[in-house]
Amino acid sequence: MTEELGRRLFLALPAGLAGMTMSEKADALEHAMSKDLDRQFGLPWGCDVAGNGERIRQNASDDFGRSRDTRLYLMHNEPRLPQMPTAPTLIDFFRLRFAPASHLLQSANLALKNGLSETVVLACLLHDISLTSLIRTDHGYWGAQLVEPYVVPEVSWAIRAHQALKFFPDASVGYEYPKSYIQMFGADYKPESYVVTAHEQARKHKWYMTARLITLNDLYAFDPKAEVHLEQFTDIIGRNFKQPKEGLGFDGSPSAHMWRSIIWPNNYL
Ligand SMILES: [Fe+2]
Ligand SMILES: [Fe+2]
Repeated sequence: MTEELGRRLFLALPAGLAGMTMSEKADALEHAMSKDLDRQFGLPWGCDVAGNGERIRQNASDDFGRSRDTRLYLMHNEPRLPQMPTAPTLIDFFRLRFAPASHLLQSANLALKNGLSETVVLACLLHDISLTSLIRTDHGYWGAQLVEPYVVPEVSWAIRAHQALKFFPDASVGYEYPKSYIQMFGADYKPESYVVTAHEQARKHKWYMTARLITLNDLYAFDPKAEVHLEQFTDIIGRNFKQPKEGLGFDGSPSAHMWRSIIWPNNYL
C-alpha cells in the first residue's frame, strides 16, 4: 500500500469515527487496510483533494494500466462501524453513531443545569449531530433538516440559526465571539455574506433567544471527569422527539435518506 493510498483511506474514514482519538483512528485504518476488509470504498469527486481525478482503485493497475482491483464495492453494512437495528431510534444513533457525543451531552447537561426549557435542552442535545456524524460544512443547516420532521419547528429553526449566531457577539446576554474561532480561523476571518444575512434575520425572529441559548450552552472545553449519561435525557427525548415506528431512515420522511447516510456512510451508491 502506498503512502498516498493510505492517506486517502485515512481521509475516507466515515464521519461516524469523528469522535475517535488519533490512535483509535489509526487502529481503524490498520483494520481497514487488513484483508478483513474485502470491499472497495468510493469517494465523491468533491473529496478528491488532489484534483486530478485519481481514484483509490486506480492506484492498483497492471502493466497495461488496467485496474487489477476486482474486489466488489461496499454496499450495506460498513464493517468498521457497529451495525444498527432495523428500526433505529434516536437513542440508537447516539449509542452507535454519535458516541461518545461528549460535546452534545455536556451542552444539554449545562442547559438542564441552567433550568432551561425542554425545547432548549433538546436543541442543545441535537445542535451538532451533523457536524459529528454527517457533514461539517453548513452543519447547522444539515442538522436542522435531519431533525425537522421529528421536533417542534422552534427546535429545528434554532439548530439552523445557531450556525450563524456563533460568529456574532450579543453583549446583552454575555455572548462573546469564541476565542477558539480566532485560533481555528485566524483573527482576520470574516464570515461569508450569507452568514451575515442569516444572523441579521435571526436577530429579528421570535425564536432568536432559543438559538442564542444554544450558543450560550455550546461548550468548547470539556471536563474529562464530568459524567453525563445519555439516560439523563431519555425522558426529554421521549416527550419531545417523534420517533417514527419504522425507524429513522425508513419512514419516508424528507430527511430519511440523511439518517440512512449515517447508518451506511460508505455505500458506493
Ligand atoms: Fe455548531
Ligand atoms: Fe456545538
